Amino acid sequence: MIKLVNLKKEYDLIYHSLLKSMNKLHNESSYILNSDVKILEKKLALFKQSKYCVTCANGTDALILALKSLNLPSGSEVLVPAYSWISTASCVLINNLRIKFVDISRDDCCIDLNELKKKISKKTRAIIIAELYGNVIPSNYLRKICKQKNIYLIIDGAQSFGSYEQNDFYDIYTTSFFPAKSLGAFGDGGACFMNKIRFKKNIEYLRVNGQKEKYHSSILGINSRLDSMQAIVLLEKLKFYKSFIKKRYSAAKYYKKYIDVNLKEIQILLNFNQKINICTNFPILIKKRNLFISFMKDKGVEIGKNYPFPLTKQQTFKKFSNNFSFRNADYISKSIVTLPINPFITRKEQDYILNCLNEFNKTF
Ligand SMILES: Cc1ncc(COP(=O)(O)O)c(C=O)c1O
Repeated sequence: MIKLVNLKKEYDLIYHSLLKSMNKLHNESSYILNSDVKILEKKLALFKQSKYCVTCANGTDALILALKSLNLPSGSEVLVPAYSWISTASCVLINNLRIKFVDISRDDCCIDLNELKKKISKKTRAIIIAELYGNVIPSNYLRKICKQKNIYLIIDGAQSFGSYEQNDFYDIYTTSFFPAKSLGAFGDGGACFMNKIRFKKNIEYLRVNGQKEKYHSSILGINSRLDSMQAIVLLEKLKFYKSFIKKRYSAAKYYKKYIDVNLKEIQILLNFNQKINICTNFPILIKKRNLFISFMKDKGVEIGKNYPFPLTKQQTFKKFSNNFSFRNADYISKSIVTLPINPFITRKEQDYILNCLNEFNKTF
């Protein structure tokens, strides 16, 4: 079976040095927020070119903590994309804030900037952008609008850590180290990135039950720490991350070259014009999606379906869509699939997948 990701190969690569670090950790027996977590935070911040990084238990908590750290009055309006993973929107409700959905673009599945402009109101206090599949949004326009209107910008970068356009702009950027992400731990993990010390301090308190001083709860927080074991795994994987990104990108280009020539009618949803795209997934639109997924399964190829419903159609969020239509989110979610992509995929495997794709297209 050709799987979407190949985590065993990543494990094989770091196995020897990981054993050494694990031994050291067990000898020290310091399993929570140890020095490795601090080292990781420094290295991640350097990688992201942000001033600070604060790690936490997962990407969902990173969003909850990021939004909490802004100290917005309850009921403030937060703009979120109509199409993303659940956490992009749930963090707003968990923080007692109000969701206003914005449609996405049909080109890259990120928030549509023209729609965003129309939806901004006097009550808007923050915008959350989800950079899906590795695609990023040019920040110049966002910088202008956020500065002009005094709106905070949170970027949900669970799928874009390492992607880059130009002049990165955000108040807080969050990411996830879920195992299948481009930089994945051996369990859950997440992080927030920021350039203002105020946000760093707030999130550091919030992730340890609001303790500014040990045993003293000063603000209402949660327990959301990155385990030292996960930090060690991430430190090892980080050594290879730049080369992983190059390999993913090269595999994505290989798919694109073939599809552009032989399957012109298939739309690819990755942006190849940005400076760096980490290509967390290889999303395309396909007709007869369920048939395609079972066809590929019979051929021994795993296909992803993220995401089959927009947030605006989920039970939890339906009532916040105010019966507006989110045409692009609906359109994309009906026929999106993702093809296997990872740093270890071979050209032979890709040729096989492309041949199957071709066969499906001719047959159905
Ligand atoms: C866009 C997006 N946001 C947030 C998350 C949440 O991350 P986690 O699973 O680590 O909580 C994910 C993970 O799937 C994601 O893809």
